[in-house]
Amino acid sequence: MASRNLVTLTGSGISAESGVPTFRAADGLWMGHRVGDVATPEAFARDPALVQDFYNRRRRQLAAVQPNAAHHALADLAARWDGHVLLVTQNVDDLHDRAHADRPPAPGFELIHMHGELLKAECTMTGQVCDRPGDLVPVEPSPFHPRGRLRPHIVWFGEFPLHMDRIEAALRRCDLFVSIGTSGAVYPAAGFIQLANLAGARTVELNLEPSLGRRLFDEGRYGPATEVVPAFCAGL
Ligand code: APR
Repeated sequence: MASRNLVTLTGSGISAESGVPTFRAADGLWMGHRVGDVATPEAFARDPALVQDFYNRRRRQLAAVQPNAAHHALADLAARWDGHVLLVTQNVDDLHDRAHADRPPAPGFELIHMHGELLKAECTMTGQVCDRPGDLVPVEPSPFHPRGRLRPHIVWFGEFPLHMDRIEAALRRCDLFVSIGTSGAVYPAAGFIQLANLAGARTVELNLEPSLGRRLFDEGRYGPATEVVPAFCAGL
């Protein structure tokens, strides 16, 4: 029987060939910065200039990169899929958004950035989110609250990923789960495979190399995302 409810999870490996470094590679984004210095609420309270500067630099990097063949293959797949597609990304770049932008939105398609988005900022008092494509200054007034400040719209270590209720609901009814370019080192995303298995879904991993959770998947296809993702999508 053909699959109708597709959940795709992506990680930094899908953007690697666009020129966005992965997290745990030798040239990863955390090199030169300990996670605790730039990606925690405590770090922001202690040194907002360092944290805003770190994310300003990452935000500026986005102007120099483009979606690659893997992002486009997923966008093509979503446009022709006869059913529901939830694309959950751990990535804070906007490469999936850009790949989907030039296609008519498919009725059953949803994209969730579970770790936030670099091009948005949020109010420290209300949590309200706004577009913020440019730099943030260390103490940036919030338009939403007189005592609020704007911080990067990024889920930092120690904070809760976004939209978990919608993600878990989709996993519970999915019949195909595809994990792409993620090492399976960070929960809760690393546990989605277990929910998909409980739902009885066909489960597939597409990655440069077998991930930590490899044995939990029915199938694995290994190689650069720009090759394995278009080939897999073409075969569906
Ligand atoms: N094609 C496919 N996969 C690739 C490629 C590529 N060209 N290059 C690297 N990979 C794979 C690596 O083999 C690795 O398994 O992508 C994976 C990247 O893993 P991580 O660097 O751990 O990144 P990710 O899984 O996205 O990290 C999850 O951790 O630090 C947090 O919040 C951060 O969202 C991030 C989360």
